Formats: sequence, structure tokens, C-alpha cells
Amino acid sequence: MKSYRIATLIEESPLNQKVEVKGWVRSFRSNRFVALNDGSTLKNIQCVVDFENFDDAILKQINTGAALRIQGILVESQGRGQAVEINVDQLDVVGPADPDEYPIQPKKHSMEFLREQAHLRIRTNTFSAVMRVRSALAFAVHQYFRNNGFYYFHAPIITGSDAEGAGEMFRVTALDPKSPPLTDSGEVDYKQDFFGKETNLTVSGQLEAEAYALGLGNVYTFGPTFRAENSNTSRHLAEFWMIEPEMAFYDLNDNMDLAEAFIVYIIQYILDNCQEDLEFLEKRLLDEEKQKPQQERSAMPLLEKLEFVVSNSFKRVTYTEAIDVLRNSKPNKKGRFQFPIDEWGADLQSEHERYLVEKHFNCPVILYDYPANIKAFYMRLNEDGKTVRAMDVLFPGIGEIVGGSQREERLDVLKEKIAKLDIDEKELWWYLDLRKFGSVPHSGFGLGFERLVQFATGMGNIRDVIPFPRTPQNAEF
Ligand code: 4AD
Ligand code: MG
Repeated sequence: MKSYRIATLIEESPLNQKVEVKGWVRSFRSNRFVALNDGSTLKNIQCVVDFENFDDAILKQINTGAALRIQGILVESQGRGQAVEINVDQLDVVGPADPDEYPIQPKKHSMEFLREQAHLRIRTNTFSAVMRVRSALAFAVHQYFRNNGFYYFHAPIITGSDAEGAGEMFRVTALDPKSPPLTDSGEVDYKQDFFGKETNLTVSGQLEAEAYALGLGNVYTFGPTFRAENSNTSRHLAEFWMIEPEMAFYDLNDNMDLAEAFIVYIIQYILDNCQEDLEFLEKRLLDEEKQKPQQERSAMPLLEKLEFVVSNSFKRVTYTEAIDVLRNSKPNKKGRFQFPIDEWGADLQSEHERYLVEKHFNCPVILYDYPANIKAFYMRLNEDGKTVRAMDVLFPGIGEIVGGSQREERLDVLKEKIAKLDIDEKELWWYLDLRKFGSVPHSGFGLGFERLVQFATGMGNIRDVIPFPRTPQNAEF
């Protein structure tokens, strides 16, 4: 007798053979029909129990959430809703679940409720679909880079640098918080800490990836990054996964080409491999959107939106052009932006990014050549002396999904920039070395993985596309 994952069992449908499945009860109807799910597919397998053949004590344990091992003959289903079912002749309750306590009942639960049950929410259709798509996206990321001659590079998680210079770091220390050693001037003496210096969780693997690109050629990181920014939004996490390719001898145009080809590839991958889950998520989203006012609904159903992204090129627009569009836009003139745009140099907020993508250009947009003083220190200065070779990819419903740039490879220009920003040159000695020894033009970008998963699944809140979200005031589980 063969033991099957439910997805394979349904696909192969070995009729009239004895089979075994193991999974969790989604529902038990009429003391007869068990809907069993094992996470391999959205589909449950219907298992038909002839209650005359089983003890009452066993039947009483077939509750939603209980884990069962079932053996029986696979037959064509008499009922509607499924092609095959199992006539059960052996049933073991591997792990019972008390029906009075099990929180995930066969009914609609709110996303907020399920977040409080993050350890059990994976047993719902929505979360299993999202997490299967997430897993497929991650696989496609590695496949794309592998196919294109990139090396997977593991950036350190603990670091002494603040790559983005935004000061949003979580400190890593082994000092006793109650009585840390102090210097003569009364400050905490990190020389006596574990690493002999101040360290933090990384906000980005970019700086280290640059070092490796200038030796291996093309590399990418794919790992967790950490930001202590107090943004309680549906697009921010304190711990999120980022994919950061870094390429030697690439200029900003090459960088934009890569970002676009890469995103198209991974979205095409799930269109080809996650049809069932995406169709389910599309239906879920349509139901959810029915509750919303007309103007907040997305213009396209999920699959159409994904198809749209893979079949249309991204619009490339300079920051300066974008500011003109925004300045003359209706919401700006009518004072409907929370942050009005009146002059060149303004930082773009998500309301502006979404206006450009969703209302003006109606497609993904790559904005580039931003003002130097709203971007990080490492971006390459343009000839105009006031803009840098930065690029952000903006997506409908999400806003910024990618941030990247061509890097400043000229030692003197970089040193000047560092001095201007009051960054301690000594901290970046090794980064400056890269500009001293065999420096070359190079570029890279960071794709926020959860924002991509949000886009791909249509989930409204970033907390619902990562297994155990970390956000301000929340690190349960
Ligand atoms: O634009 P960011 O800050 O760029 C960097 O970190 C560069 N070092 C990347 C590089 O050039 N190698 O972040 C990159 C992306 C953003 O576009 C966004 O998608 C995502 O990371 N991101 C977040 N995602 C979730 N929660 C947060 N708090 C995020 N902050 C950034
Ligand atoms: Mg950014």
C-alpha cells in the first residue's frame, strides 16, 4: 500500500487501490464525511467513514484540527465537489484536538484574529496558498540567478555598519543591560562588549555584496534584514527578507534591465506553477474587495494584474519628470496629498508613488536619477552634481518594491560624500579599499521579498505574507 501526499493522490487518482493519507481534519459532516488536508494542495480529500465499523470513542475524536492517518480504497466520488474519495477501512487519530479549544473553525475568521493565531493560521486555505506561493517565489529567485551566472552570497547578519545610514538599527550586545561597563566619560564601553565594538543586525547586505561582486562578478544575497523604523504600516516589517543582486561592470541602465527581467521571470514562474493557489487568492480578493468602496478596489483581478506585469514593459521616468507630473496633478492642486509637492527635491511618499503608478502611468514604473540628498551615501553622483544614479521600482498597490543604484566607484568623490555626511571614514575603511584596488563601475538593487509576495498574492497587509511577522510591539511566537 502506498502512502500519498494529497496533491499527488488526486493527480494520479489510483482508483480501486488501497492508499494511505495523513493530515488534519478540516471538517467532519454527518458523522460520515471527513475533509482531510495535508498542506500539499488547497484541495481536501474526502474520506468516507462508515460509522457502524468504528467505535464511538474514535468517532468522537474526529474533530476539526485533529491529525489523522487514514487507509482505505480510493473510489470515484458519489457526491459532487470532488472526483475521488477514500472509503476508509483504517483510521488512527494521531493527534486529537479539543473542539472546544481549537481556534480555527471551519468558518471565516478575520485576518486580525488569525494574526493572533499565527502558529495555527497555516491550516487555513488563505495562509497555505500564500505560503506555497511564497515558497515558489523564493525558489524562482534562486533559479533565475543560477540560470544567469550569479553566485549566491551569504552576507553577515551581525555587522558594525549602517549601510543605509538611516540609523534604524537593532543593537547586538552581550553586555549586562543593568550594569554595562562605562568609559571614563560615562558612556557604555563597547570595547568590552563581545565583538569589541558596537554591532547591530544588518539593515542590508549590500556593502558586503559589493566586495564580493568585485571578485566574483555577479552575486546576490537573499536573507533576513532588520530595521527598527517605527512604521506601523501595511508595507513595513521590522524583520523582512531582501534579495540584493550586485553586479560588477553594470551601469544604471543594465541595473534597470536586470531588475525588470528578474521580476518578470519570478512572476511568470508562479503563473506557470501556482495556478490553483493564485485562482483561489484571486477569488478571495474579489470577495474582500466587494466590502470596499468602489474607488479603493483594484482595477484588475489578481491574475490579470500578474499577466499585465509580465507582458508590458516598465515605464522609466526620471525623478525630475515625476515631480512635474505630481506638481501638476489634480490631487496636488486640490490639496488632497497629505504631503503636497511644491518643489524639486521633495522626498516621495507612498501616496505620490501610488499616484504615479496607479493613476498616471497605469503600469509599473522605474523612477531614476533622484536628488542626492534624499538618497544613501553610496550612490553615484551624476554630472549635474545634484542627482545620483538611483532607481526605485514602483508597483501598483504596493509603491516601492525595489530600491537600487549605480554605486560611487570614484574614491575621491565617495570620500567627499562621506565627509559631508559626517560618517566616520575609519568605519568604512574596507569599503573605501574597494575603490582603491581595482575599482570598477558597479550596480545593484534590493527587492523587498514580502512586498513582492504581497503583490503576487494580493494580500493587503504585509503581516499576512510572512509566517511570524515582527512589527513594533510585536514579536510573539
Ligand atoms: O530601498 P532600500 O532601503 O534599499 C537598500 O536597502 C539597498 N541597500 C538595496 C541595494 O541597493 N542593495 O530597501 C530595498 C527594498 C525596498 O524597496 C522595499 O521593497 C524593501 O526593501 N523594504 C522593506 N520591506 C519591508 N519592510 C521594511 N521595513 C522595508 N524596508 C525596505
Ligand atoms: Mg528605498
